[in-house]
Amino acid sequence: MSSSIKDLLESTISHIPKNSQYSVSQKDLKYCLANIIGKKKEFLITNPEYILSISEEKVFLKSVKLLNEGIPLAYVIGNQEFYGYKYSVNKHVLIPRPETEIIIPKILQYGDSVFKKKNNIMLIDAGSGSGCIGLTIAGERPSWKILLTEKSLKAIDVLRENSHKYKYKNCSIIASDWLKGLNKNIADIIISNPPYIEHGTSQIDNTVFKYEPHSSLFSSDRGLKDIKTLIFESKLALVKGGFLFMENGLGQSEDIIRNLKENYYEDIDIILDYNNIKRFTVSRNS
Ligand SMILES: C[S@@+](CC[C@H](N)C(=O)[O-])C[C@H]1O[C@@H](n2cnc3c(N)ncnc32)[C@H](O)[C@@H]1O
Repeated sequence: MSSSIKDLLESTISHIPKNSQYSVSQKDLKYCLANIIGKKKEFLITNPEYILSISEEKVFLKSVKLLNEGIPLAYVIGNQEFYGYKYSVNKHVLIPRPETEIIIPKILQYGDSVFKKKNNIMLIDAGSGSGCIGLTIAGERPSWKILLTEKSLKAIDVLRENSHKYKYKNCSIIASDWLKGLNKNIADIIISNPPYIEHGTSQIDNTVFKYEPHSSLFSSDRGLKDIKTLIFESKLALVKGGFLFMENGLGQSEDIIRNLKENYYEDIDIILDYNNIKRFTVSRNS
């Protein structure tokens, strides 16, 4: 026999192992259950006597087991919200982060003001992963043309799934090693959230290290190799006056600014995240 929402949540919460190294929060459990029954989490509060189907209950109990093992919620339920959109994710793509959302309105603002006389702004999202950045911009600005590039073929499967879900007509996806092989002077804006964590660092969450793809996380040269490659390759792909936006890690800004200047970028600006960490650089191709 199946249980009600109220009974299932109560019995699950009382069975969460107290000594587990992973703390499964009640909030995650509720989000997970709401996702399984295809409702908003408020539904759980207003309908505590709703009886789950046998298969919904089975999926929930299996999900609780995975959460107790430390698997991130987004991988367990297979999706993550980002800037109001819902993107499919699996172990082959980075889970979209709240701090990455900060860059979306900034890019829209730059595009709208700097290129206001242009009909078709061309934006490249380099290393798209799930597509959270590029697809979100495609949704917010249907008149822009968005090119999503990604090296991992398994990530591209997820990217295609997300692109098909939203059925945007202004997006194309290509497999490529950063911007190699692209035509010159094609992009008005390039955005990338590249891998930027130093190999061997102890400052990484155990769950992130264990479950998220290392090809999305780590870069050599103290985490700066991919950023430097992007700075170099964007110089060719950007139009004169085009903008490069890049996410980076803690303490990397000074090195990035130096490298941007060495490559003759101008009007360099820093964008802070919610913790006042210098999280993004914006610069203009001279
Ligand atoms: C930090 S993740 C960012 C994913 C997504 N843009 C986001 O913000 O959630 C970096 C992405 O870059 C991709 N990547 C790593 N090396 C690459 C390369 N040489 N060329 C293209 N993409 C690459 C990874 O596969 C991964 O999807």
